[in-house]
Amino acid sequence: MSIKIKSPGTVANLVCGFDILGLALKEPYDIMEFEVIDEPGVVIVNKDSFGLPTDPEKNVAGVVLLAAIEKAGFQKGIKVTIEKQIKPGSGLGSSAASAAGAAVGAARLMGDIFSTDDMVQLAMIGEKLATGVKHADNITPCILGGVTLIRSIYPLDIIPIASPDLYVTVVHPQIEVRTADARQILRKQVYLKDAIKQWGNIAGLVAGLVSNDNALISRSLEDVIIEPVRSILIPNFDDVKTQCKAAGALGGGISGSGPSIFMLSENESIATDVGQIMKKIYDDIDIENNVYVTTINKTGVEVMH
Ligand code: HSE
Repeated sequence: MSIKIKSPGTVANLVCGFDILGLALKEPYDIMEFEVIDEPGVVIVNKDSFGLPTDPEKNVAGVVLLAAIEKAGFQKGIKVTIEKQIKPGSGLGSSAASAAGAAVGAARLMGDIFSTDDMVQLAMIGEKLATGVKHADNITPCILGGVTLIRSIYPLDIIPIASPDLYVTVVHPQIEVRTADARQILRKQVYLKDAIKQWGNIAGLVAGLVSNDNALISRSLEDVIIEPVRSILIPNFDDVKTQCKAAGALGGGISGSGPSIFMLSENESIATDVGQIMKKIYDDIDIENNVYVTTINKTGVEVMH
């Protein structure tokens, strides 16, 4: 018995919602194929060139599959063949795609035995291996699709947020920003005046998404706590933001912990212009880059067969 899935990239934080908001992308995505094998345990085959570990204890998908097998009391093993298109370290939820894909794949293979909360809990084991902390703001939209709010991790409280059909443009400048480092540099305390601004923006963003109010979404895409610290790791970040907004984007910012930057737009024509602007900015300073012009993925991990 085997199944094949597409596990999508995700944009975590959505600017003001550090560790609590995220959305799934139509592109890029990873492809994972799962098979039941007689030998107990997990076998990993990588079909890409990223050189990720094949030892299941050291592989994000591997630790999730091991935990899923244990939780289910499954007597056989699982072989997974992974073809990643989401580059590790891009800020586009590469580890979450592996972790969430593994949780959904295992659940399906063993007979749809896990709830959404179970799958998120299992996938967080993979995120912990990758980033050192359990967070679900990439995993949840990856599994469910759309925009999601993680109101709480302990206990897990996930709220899917209805959202308009927006376009998402993403640039991945090929520089290295490790999530662990990008978390390490953050200030541990915030001023009350900044916190007030931030929660006003989060509430405004959520209200704007559910009521299809693009002007409200646009003015709520502001981060006074995380972005001022992290953006110094990303060359020409302010330029990208200013020029993309001048071209009509609603707004955007760092995707997850970076270095990718995302922008939301109302239509494909603006989203395409925004992509060209992003590309030119990084081409001009000789930083290799990938640009995606895509939409919000409303379904999350997709089972192909
Ligand atoms: N919320 C996380 C962060 C996402 O910004 O550190 C990165 O995986």
